[in-house]
Amino acid sequence: MSKEKLNILFAAAEVVPFAKTGGLADVAGALPKALKKLGHNIIVVMPRYYSIDTTKLEKLPAPLGVPMGVMGEFWAAVYMSKLPGSDVKIYFIDYEHYFGRRGLYEHEEGSYEDNDNRFVFFSKATLQLCNMLHFTPDIIHANDWHTATIPLLSKTRFVHDFAHAASVLTIHNLQHQGVFYKGVMDVLEVGWEHFNPYELESMDSVNFLKGGIAYADAVTTVSKKYAQEIQTPQFGFGLDHHIRAHSSKLFGILNGVDYTEWNPATDSFIAKDYTFNNISGKLTCKQDLQKQFHLPQREDVALIGFVGRFVEQKGIGLIAGVIHKLLDQDIQIVMLGTGEKWAERFFGEVAYHRENFALHIGYSNALAHKIEAGCDMFLMPSLFEPCGLNQIYSLAYATLPIVRATGGLDDTIVNFDKYHHKGNGFKFYDATQKALYHTVLWAVDIYYNDKKSFRKMQKVAMKAHFSWEDSAKAYIDVYKFALSKKQG
Ligand code: ADP
Ligand code: GLC
Repeated sequence: MSKEKLNILFAAAEVVPFAKTGGLADVAGALPKALKKLGHNIIVVMPRYYSIDTTKLEKLPAPLGVPMGVMGEFWAAVYMSKLPGSDVKIYFIDYEHYFGRRGLYEHEEGSYEDNDNRFVFFSKATLQLCNMLHFTPDIIHANDWHTATIPLLSKTRFVHDFAHAASVLTIHNLQHQGVFYKGVMDVLEVGWEHFNPYELESMDSVNFLKGGIAYADAVTTVSKKYAQEIQTPQFGFGLDHHIRAHSSKLFGILNGVDYTEWNPATDSFIAKDYTFNNISGKLTCKQDLQKQFHLPQREDVALIGFVGRFVEQKGIGLIAGVIHKLLDQDIQIVMLGTGEKWAERFFGEVAYHRENFALHIGYSNALAHKIEAGCDMFLMPSLFEPCGLNQIYSLAYATLPIVRATGGLDDTIVNFDKYHHKGNGFKFYDATQKALYHTVLWAVDIYYNDKKSFRKMQKVAMKAHFSWEDSAKAYIDVYKFALSKKQG
């Protein structure tokens, strides 16, 4: 019964190139294009944040009414554009009071206090927009806690308009679940009967992600390994039991890479392009990176990079614990990131005292590209990692990843094995400083003393291809599963 050409509604809180705090935006900017290329009809919806310039967007003539329960009806403006390089339409929900702020989810002191209402509003607006556009989705694809109430809303409050739609929820990061004071039930308007431990309730609060997992016809995560991990207490963030109860509709699909952006042969941010057959430009990139970061200009030294949010998830605590010992070796380390204040201060101090360490606190896409290209190795010692994108970008740039074997890092990185001639990087298993320290030393030793193996691994790394087309095909299979489940 399944249609060949699906109508897909894709909702996300951030989408490249319009707004980004992490990998969710990369996925939301790329997957819809790949789905469209497979012949499906897809629209994307996101909030219009303060930073998004409306003069470059087209404004829809009519405002959008959004019912907010006890708070009454709010009216939003809607803007439209297209995902760059494609025909995929993206709609922006514009409501100054909620989204006209500098941060996407938080200010200096922490999360915005009204994130519950902001994202219930956005989720409802997304569904209302379909009605306004006369767009009848077969599939409603929600992402993370921000839009996790959509599967529930589409089957309750909005069921008349979406009776035939199946819903899919992708969990990009289980740590963030959208847990709020239960009063938001009166804004959600789905009926208090859904405030129970099998649906929305978690310890007397509302848990958006939990409700989404209960109501979506299919749930996905961004790697197969992470799909297994989140069913265990160690990685379940309190929801492992709930996820196990829904495991028959849980799938792991690895993210792809947008190789039009992450490709050393065409990258406009890097000092010199290089290719699989001729990697010599990478040395120029290394020199450029050292210059940019005021590191001693040495082409022979092992240079290791880190790009990412400075949060516990990324293993910055582990790095902090061994950084001085590592810097006592003949290596250079460069870090780019922003996040927890203690980490920014701590690494700032390290940069002040050590000449073979450099740091840029902040967000810079250009520097992220330069680090990928200029380093010999890339460090990603995450405590957990649903997919991880930087290690995959690193492979494309022949920058060998040193990772902890978790989630997508474990699925994408094959450990160096000299005796069986295998590997595209270096992996350790225990989340300990000791394991991290030894693995970095091991990688550095191979870099200095086994150049042949190192070079071979670089070739294997550059050959790997993580295409969005393959991922999109896997999503289509999940969409069909969701539709059959709904009809069955
Ligand atoms: P997460 O989504 O958990 O942050 P991912 O590895 O999936 O981790 O994606 C992170 C994305 O954000 C990558 O594209 C990475 O290059 C980018 N990124 C993270 N921090 C920075 C930064 N400080 N400057 C530039 N890009 C960054
Ligand atoms: C999350 C995860 C990251 C993943 C990204 C995109 O932010 O932390 O591992 O790559 O989402 O799916």
